[in-house]
Amino acid sequence: MPNPNFDPVEVSALQPETIEAAVSAALAAFTAASTLDELKSQRLSHAGDRSGLALANREIGALPPAARAAAGQRVGAARAQVDRALAARQAELEIERDARVLIEEAVDVTLPSDRRAAGARHPLTTIQERIADVFTAMGYEVAEGPEVEAEWYNFDALNIGVDHPARSLMDTFFLGSPDSGLVLRTHTSPVQVRTMLWREPPIYVICPGRVYRTDELDATHTPVFHQVEGLVIDEGITMAHLKGTLDHLAAAMFGPGIVTRLRPAYFPFTEPSAEPDLLCFVCRGDSVGNPARPCRTCDSEGWIEWGGCGMVNPRVLVACGIDPERYSGFAFGMGIDRTLMFRNGVEDMRDIVEGDVRFTAAFGVQG
Ligand code: PHE
Repeated sequence: MPNPNFDPVEVSALQPETIEAAVSAALAAFTAASTLDELKSQRLSHAGDRSGLALANREIGALPPAARAAAGQRVGAARAQVDRALAARQAELEIERDARVLIEEAVDVTLPSDRRAAGARHPLTTIQERIADVFTAMGYEVAEGPEVEAEWYNFDALNIGVDHPARSLMDTFFLGSPDSGLVLRTHTSPVQVRTMLWREPPIYVICPGRVYRTDELDATHTPVFHQVEGLVIDEGITMAHLKGTLDHLAAAMFGPGIVTRLRPAYFPFTEPSAEPDLLCFVCRGDSVGNPARPCRTCDSEGWIEWGGCGMVNPRVLVACGIDPERYSGFAFGMGIDRTLMFRNGVEDMRDIVEGDVRFTAAFGVQG
């Protein structure tokens, strides 16, 4: 039953004095809060769901309709006042906190640091990966072979006869005696042979790796260096494919427009053979015959020697069990250390092999 005689003053939570007291308690508590955390807990007690004002607000619904408007206005005004005070104190404390944080968290960049230098991957590794990326993107696979190699793979199968000068003690490290039949591979081409023997064409591989020759270590020679070999065997492969592949590699490594040219050469395992030159990626040939613009990268030649290449000699195909009537292929090989030298301006080969971390770290940021 509705109670027509209901006296709103009897609902104590809604009495004006109670509401005023709640407001002044809230304002005092907010002023007294000296941190954002303290303010947060005061907000819960004075403006939260269980605060006196929230309670009062809930009581309004219990009043007879005639009494609701006045009580609602009173409570609404009180809550608005409390909210304003809360927001103002919140803003004040945030400004104080920001000012304090600026001072407390300031970093003195002039203080000595104890940061230890991070290591870096060797540039030979990163350049090899870069080359591998170029070829795997074209569907090639990366093949590997042993560094201690049978003479047959390193020489015989590649049409390098017993009397070939490359076979002599001058260039080759033999394991044990020269008639042991085992050498440290002098190039990555034996991996070509292994791949052709073990795989059916079509073959699209590159073989990066370490090779050995009996050179003294000096600024331009090292007895251990790196090559990357490329081998393609398929039907209808021509020298045009070889040239296009080398041009693609040149542009990927040295920038758009850097092409190769093929100079006739001789290798026992390719016929015809050529030496690819790289258009100088610094002067692009402008230094040639132009003493006003000398180029250190290509010695003002306009072109940089970049390895060996050619069409796989049919004799090699036969030695590896591939029908030369059906298949043809190309191969190329270049020195990775040499490529690194002119690509990155490394003047002394010894820097590449000596393992001084200061050299490697300079390349550390390179992907
Ligand atoms: N293997 C040769 C060398 O080391 C380079 C080469 C590879 C030449 C493939 C032609 C084809 O000199």
